[in-house]
Formats: sequence, structure tokens, C-alpha cells
Amino acid sequence: MQTRAVELEARETDWEYAPGRAVPGMGFNGSVPGPLIEAAVGDTIRARLLNSLTQPTTIHWHGLRVPASMDGTESVQTAVEPGASFDYEFSVPDAGTFWYHTHVNETEQLERGLYGPLVVRGPGEPTLDADRVLMLDDLKLDADGRLSPFADDHELHEGREGDIRLVNGLQEPELQIAAGQLERWRVVNAANTRFMRVSLGGRPFSILGSDGGLIGAPVEATEVLITPGERVELAVGPFKEGEVFELESLPYDRGRGEPSRERFATIRVGPAEASSAHVPEVLREIAPLTGNGIEPTRTVSMKALMHGGHGQRDDDVRVGELQVWELVNETSQDHPFHLHGFFFQVLSESPLAWKDTVNVPQKAQVRIAWLPDDRPGDWMYHCHILEHHAMGMMAHFRVVA
Ligand code: C2O
Ligand code: CU
Repeated sequence: MQTRAVELEARETDWEYAPGRAVPGMGFNGSVPGPLIEAAVGDTIRARLLNSLTQPTTIHWHGLRVPASMDGTESVQTAVEPGASFDYEFSVPDAGTFWYHTHVNETEQLERGLYGPLVVRGPGEPTLDADRVLMLDDLKLDADGRLSPFADDHELHEGREGDIRLVNGLQEPELQIAAGQLERWRVVNAANTRFMRVSLGGRPFSILGSDGGLIGAPVEATEVLITPGERVELAVGPFKEGEVFELESLPYDRGRGEPSRERFATIRVGPAEASSAHVPEVLREIAPLTGNGIEPTRTVSMKALMHGGHGQRDDDVRVGELQVWELVNETSQDHPFHLHGFFFQVLSESPLAWKDTVNVPQKAQVRIAWLPDDRPGDWMYHCHILEHHAMGMMAHFRVVA
């Protein structure tokens, strides 16, 4: 087990999202996304946040089971003032694809680029020919190509979606893959609001993992919905030399009309290379936390959340007491629900996965189960449409020993 020390300076940066085209961004160490942090299960991450912005900021470690005091929200720390720094330190107990992002003035700071990927590897994971992180995002510009102003009332309600579609901070880039190879793609939705129904030009791929690492067994698919905050791990390939196709998002109605099919990247298949990829039939054992018929211990109403404003407090939960929450969405738009610090299982879902963010579709409900392990303190849940979060679509609660 190692200690991984990293320094993350939040600063303004000229974000060149396409050749010759830039916006005033904010990046960790000046890049969008910020640097990839890699660790092995059990390692300790020591991250110093240096704030060189002109406004306060923090870092939230999305999906990592950190101690409450390291969660990066303003309920557990004071935001880091300009010129000041803060040391985060925690160990990483789970393998998976995670991300870190600001948790202050998110609608602006995340849109301008304050986020980055974090990958934790575990023993005995499948071996693929390559392992890449694709952080999908969008950027909203005005007619003159400048950053569109932030969060008016309309945007708070509808969310912020822009026409510039990005992969790892670049507009519709070209990606190369060698023919004959099978790659592991860790896809993160880092957008403020945009839902992504990801397709590879209709080609089949397998889903290997979710927010909290591998799922039980690979699932064959030709599309997968990734809502803001969620991650999906895919096995992609093999393709034939000369194939060209698009990484795109298919139309999806989140209650705000259907956008058209949208390109995020173009994939070009280059000359063949040998493959030593092996994806086993069983990836991991995930034991169900509970059966399907169990009664909820709590109901969380998206409508009440949406209208509740910032100060909402939900009841405490006790360490070791199984939580079964019914997430009810009475509203006419989808809301990706994010629980800080803990993984849950979606009860109706098969195969089982460890999740920290789940879409609750309009006029629908989703039942989740989770077990508060021994990390007492102040936690929160919120809608990961950042404008909704900013509007107060969130609640605090306490885990008590
Ligand atoms: Cu990724 Cu409180 O969020
Ligand atoms: Cu929402």
C-alpha cells in the first residue's frame, strides 16, 4: 500500500476546447479535466488543494468512501478561500472509476472545468488491451462564442445544456483504436445537466462496471444511459481496420423534449495489433443487501426536495442499520439522485451494481438499499443536475454511531 501525494491547484486557465477556440476556464493545475489520479485499493491519497481562484472552492471525491470530514462539502469544512489551501487525506477502499470536482458554486465552477478523473484498481481485475477514461461534458456558449451567462431562473429550472460536446475537455475529438483489440473505457458524465444515451454507432459493447466498480457479469448492449454524475465501464471492440464510427448520444427525453442524436467523438480504427484481452464470465460477487419485497424505511420525494430550498435536514441514520429508501419522482422531469459517501443497490435492477448516483425518471420511483458503514458524520444527497442542486434540491442528514 502506497501513499499517493498530489497537488491540485484550482486556477483560471485559457481552456482551448478546440483548435483556436478558447473560453476562460477553471482547471485543476490549469487543465480540463484535471490530472488523472490513479491508486490501488488500500492506498492513501493525500491531496493538497491550493486555491488560486478569486472565489472559494473545495473538492468533493465523488463516489469515494472517505471519512465525513474529507467529503469536501461546506457542511463538513469551510470552503477554501482564495490564496489558501486544504489537505485532503483518506484511503481508497474500493476499485472503480471515480471523479473529483468542486463543490462550491458548482454550476459555474464545474461548467468551467473544475473536475478530474480518479481510478482505483483492485486485485484480479479483467485484463484488457487498454484502459482509458472518457469524461463527457458539454459547454454552453452564447452566439459570439463566449461562455453563456450563468444560472438565471430559467436555467436553474431546466438545467444548463450547451451545444459544444466534449470528451476529456476537447470538442468532438478523434480517437484511435487498434483493430483487433478490446479496450476498457471508463465513461464519466461530468456535464451540469446533459443526459447521455451513449452509443458507438450502434455497435455492440459490454458493460463491465458502474459507479462503484465492476458488476457481477458483463452485459451485452448497444446503448447505455449515463446521467450526470454516473460512471459506466465498457469493454469496447474488437473492430476492423478502417472502420470509422461515432461515439454519440441518442435522443432521450428527460422531460424537456428530445434532443437529436449528437456526436461526442469520432472513432477511427487503425492497423491491427495483437490482443491479450480476457474478460471472464463472472467479474465479481455482489451479494444483495436485501430482497425485493422489503418495505422502505424512508421515502424521499423529489418534488419536496425540489421545493425545499437549501436548509433541509433529513432524519439521522444509524451505523449498521439497513436503509431502504423509496425515491419518488412526482415531477415532470428526470432527476439523477446522488448519495454522498455510500454505495447503494437499486432493488429492481439486474444485474446488481454498486451505485452512488441513479436516475429517477419523471413520474416514477426507484427503490434503493444501503448500509451505513462506520463513518459517522454529516452527509448529504442531492440531484446531480447542478442547477437543481444550486436551487436547493438537496438534503443533509447525519450518520450516527
Ligand atoms: Cu458529484 Cu455533491 O456531487
Ligand atoms: Cu434534478
